Amino acid sequence: MSNIRLMKPYITFDEVEAEFRAVFESGIFTRGHNVEALRKQLAEYTGAKHAFLMTSATTALWVCLKLLGVDKDDEVIVSDFSFPATANVVEDLGARPIFADVDIHTFNMLPEELERKITPRTKAVIFVDALGNPEGLTEIKAICEKYGLPLIEDAACGIGSGENGRRCGSIADLTCFSFHPRKLISSGEGGAITTNRDDWADWLEMKLMHGAKGLKGIAMDFVDYGYNFRLPELQAIMASKQLAKIEKIVDERNSIRQDYMTELVPLGFVPQKIGVNVRSNIQSLVFKVPEGCDRDALILALRGAGVETTIGTYAMSSGTYFMRKYANPQKNSTKLEQTTITLPCFDGIDLVKVAGSIKNVMR
Ligand SMILES: Cc1ncc(COP(=O)(O)O)c(C=O)c1O
Repeated sequence: MSNIRLMKPYITFDEVEAEFRAVFESGIFTRGHNVEALRKQLAEYTGAKHAFLMTSATTALWVCLKLLGVDKDDEVIVSDFSFPATANVVEDLGARPIFADVDIHTFNMLPEELERKITPRTKAVIFVDALGNPEGLTEIKAICEKYGLPLIEDAACGIGSGENGRRCGSIADLTCFSFHPRKLISSGEGGAITTNRDDWADWLEMKLMHGAKGLKGIAMDFVDYGYNFRLPELQAIMASKQLAKIEKIVDERNSIRQDYMTELVPLGFVPQKIGVNVRSNIQSLVFKVPEGCDRDALILALRGAGVETTIGTYAMSSGTYFMRKYANPQKNSTKLEQTTITLPCFDGIDLVKVAGSIKNVMR
């Protein structure tokens, strides 16, 4: 059992108790003022015109693909170094995920890979902020514009990050966030979509309300079929409290990254590159292990010493399902899956213990 976890929640029960009590007293657990307030807060924070709350980043990505009309035999180009949800949603709609390899330093989609993989069947592009880092997003957006392709940002990890002075949520055509407990904002489960497009916002408003728009007589008018992926009131309260302090959280995590670098770079660990035009939220603090180091053995030894660690993330193309179906593994992402490690990162972390454990194992 690890006694230093990878992540700790940035929320306490004391912070939400009064508002939770009010919800219980009112009996309004869904579609209340807390949800509406969070939508406004998220739009204001990211600089996006519209924000929609969802049950997860997975449902957010899936709905965005539905919005774009992604269907059988379409292709969607995806950053390959990601949690498999990014490609699963494409696969689920009968379309084909086209895995684009990533930069070995930033871990993000390579622009030349994107251009090389565009075909007449390409319907959309999903760029992933790998581990919270959006580096290269602006360049990928410019390429998408050149080819008339819609860009979805999988910012499941990216709340609080940005590039060239703009925040994630207002750069891509559609941005999807996650509020899972491994993220900087956690509501248990949850997610969001942001966009600047009014017509897409109208579609989302209607589809996410079971297809209802306006009234027919005194009841809802179901003008289309639709869905329910709502974030409830209690979850909205939790997310709102954390969003209010996101800048401080991001600063703290960047400072922890610097401290880790001081300890680990001399041992040969190489951090994920974060460029000068990028603000990364350090959702996962990931290093490439030193040349010759047995990464799996290191993770297991650290776990044995009570320090929770895991791999960086996945080369989706190399996973059993996608490998069996498409047999198209990507070189850099596969190497990163095998040679990266995620280390604990949260306010108050005992860095001396983590670094000491690493040094003990590496001796
Ligand atoms: C890049 C990426 N996309 C999508 C997801 C799925 O997010 P959720 O758990 O909110 O569905 C994750 C989860 O870790 C992720 O890291």
